[in-house]
Amino acid sequence: MLCLGIETSCDETAAAVVRDGRVALSDVVSTQIDIHRRWGGVIPELASRNHVLQVMPVIDEALKRAQVWLGDLDVIAVTSGPGLQGALLVGLQVAKSLSLASGVPLVGVNHLEGHLLAIRLAADAPEPPFLGLVVSGGHTTLYEVPAFGTYLKLGSTRDDAAGEAYDKVARLLGLPYPGGQPIDELAQQGDPKAIAFPRALKSHEILDWSFSGLKTAVLHHVQTHGLPTGQALADVCASFQEAVADALTKKVMLGAKKAGATQLVLCGGVAANSRLRALAQERADEAGLKLYLPPKRLCTDNGAMIAVAGAEAFRRGVRSELSLNAEPSWRL
Ligand code: KG4
Ligand code: ZN
Repeated sequence: MLCLGIETSCDETAAAVVRDGRVALSDVVSTQIDIHRRWGGVIPELASRNHVLQVMPVIDEALKRAQVWLGDLDVIAVTSGPGLQGALLVGLQVAKSLSLASGVPLVGVNHLEGHLLAIRLAADAPEPPFLGLVVSGGHTTLYEVPAFGTYLKLGSTRDDAAGEAYDKVARLLGLPYPGGQPIDELAQQGDPKAIAFPRALKSHEILDWSFSGLKTAVLHHVQTHGLPTGQALADVCASFQEAVADALTKKVMLGAKKAGATQLVLCGGVAANSRLRALAQERADEAGLKLYLPPKRLCTDNGAMIAVAGAEAFRRGVRSELSLNAEPSWRL
């Protein structure tokens, strides 16, 4: 079964062909990071315009690399939400046109379901039930997954997503957008205990996160001590990173205990973070949980994860009409 996945929800134009929901035959990502970097964040209008330019070449390349022709496909999957409305509409319009022209069925996919199922492209992937933490630029949510297609929200951020905190802290430290990777790299040289940044919502009764206070604490640190450079900058990055990884993993372990889970998946862009991966492994081992970490390139946005989720939904009988519309705030 061959599925073409198309992703244009934010600032990556991506397409991939996946076989049997498990094997990526191609996975093409055209990033707009350089376009948005000078503004310090994603400009929706620029994102839409660039998706229009990139979407057909990216799809052509994905089909070519997979050595697949449109008519060979069994299903076309496209992200229909959540994300930027104008950006989503570009992928949707192309997917609908290809489906109409070829007669290949169409399936609209939730971007977060794509993140949760990206692990299925790895050789070692869990079957449900498992717990999945989606931790990205727009989302920080813990789901219980009793079966494919059923996603129960256990906890979520009350304000900023973890990736958003990374991006905002990077900005106030004068680091490039997106901030995750530069902070991660600088943190390698820093002392995670140098600054005691706060952990919010520490109560064991609460399964939610809050990262806006942490961001403000970094701002106050910079206002008090000046913009850090050299070792001081590395220490701020390491201490901030430790606070994020500590908060994320503590609550995930709490959720796992409450849900009686035995398997855990981390996914989304922040799941590429080196400290989060290491601490999650440490705490999962302590708790006797089997941890699944997608390779880093499957953590950030890509078309293969949309193809996997689309193939899985198609197998369950899900089909979308040509009236399929963008759902910018679609909750999983
Ligand atoms: O999943 P993704 O590509 O897009 C969304 O769906 O949001 O995630 C992007 C986010 C950005 O906020 C970026 O700073 C963060 O993932 N990120 C990281 C790392 N790599 C990317 N955060 C921490 N450490 C990293 N190594
Ligand atoms: Zn994403």
